[in-house]
Amino acid sequence: MDGMREIPVHVQPRADSAYSVFIGRDIQDFWTAHLRDALSLRSVFILTDRRVEQLWGEAVTERLRREGFRVRRLSVPAGEESKTWERAREILESMLASSMDRSGGVVALGGGVVGDLAGFCASVFMRGVVCVQVPTTLVAQVDSSIGGKTAVDLPAAKNAAGAFHQPGAVYTDTIFLETLPAEEVLNGMAEVIKYGAIRDPELFERLEDHEPMAPPAQDPDWWMDLVARCAGVKCDIVGRDERDTGERMILNFGHTAGHALEICTDFQLSHGRAVAVGMCVAARLSRDLGVFSVAESDRLESLLRHWGLPTVLPAGVDPERMLDTMRMDKKRRDGKNRWVVLRGIGVADVAPDVQEEAIRAVLKEVTP
Ligand code: GLY
Repeated sequence: MDGMREIPVHVQPRADSAYSVFIGRDIQDFWTAHLRDALSLRSVFILTDRRVEQLWGEAVTERLRREGFRVRRLSVPAGEESKTWERAREILESMLASSMDRSGGVVALGGGVVGDLAGFCASVFMRGVVCVQVPTTLVAQVDSSIGGKTAVDLPAAKNAAGAFHQPGAVYTDTIFLETLPAEEVLNGMAEVIKYGAIRDPELFERLEDHEPMAPPAQDPDWWMDLVARCAGVKCDIVGRDERDTGERMILNFGHTAGHALEICTDFQLSHGRAVAVGMCVAARLSRDLGVFSVAESDRLESLLRHWGLPTVLPAGVDPERMLDTMRMDKKRRDGKNRWVVLRGIGVADVAPDVQEEAIRAVLKEVTP
């Protein structure tokens, strides 16, 4: 198909779990046929959310039916509130009631919440069925649809119950970006900036030079390039470290404080805005640890502001509650705080034992 990119993911050392991320604009004909011909699926269970359902649910279902699939579709309320254990049970029961068996597959049509939830249900349904990701948000296209992390939240911690379950394929259609609310594009820009900060200094410069927030429909090629570039970094990293024991941790840059901030604001602050502030906290911590310069830390904050993202905590957030919440971080080992730090723009690393006093000092700095 014209202009479409295919990025392979080779999950080492498991040759059996190789798959591809296909990226293009308006690729529905391609992926519905690929599901049938390459993945040999005949029946699918589409999980989506109410917003995506309204825009795309019927069109995708019809397309699949025309390809000869038996299709069942279920939508959940949009937002993190849907990523619960109870909701997962409802979905599993609905999969069972639809007579799905192990030869069927789950299609995750939506953003990060749908992708995580669908992947989680696919990983446990009859001990595991195929899940393909059809990401509709920028966050999901550049990050969460790739790499097989699936989860539901528990009340005290985001993503606390889950499994690694690599998708059968990722079909990234950038046409979805053209109907995305501006706030959702902004959300994804935090992850895009993250890729520049941790691995791709040229991308970082490109973002500094680009006029912010021109809608994706105005310049679809620029956005497709951007998505492909970020997806390329992600595929490369997860291929080498599926289980998040080493290099993959750098993808969590900004997420330690970011996740805590989401919890402390009852998810009223969007993921992108929370990660933006989280990246400022991590950059300032890197500066205080002496591995990142003041000028570079300022440069990252300027780029976030350039794209309209916040760099300080929202009013009313208690830094001590943030510290309490961060004690649940999955990167912690033996009571030690592990943080993803920057050693330069495009160079990330994991600091194995960051003292709480250092974190407290930075949180004070970013409290307005
Ligand atoms: N979103 C971070 C990861 O997939 O590891």
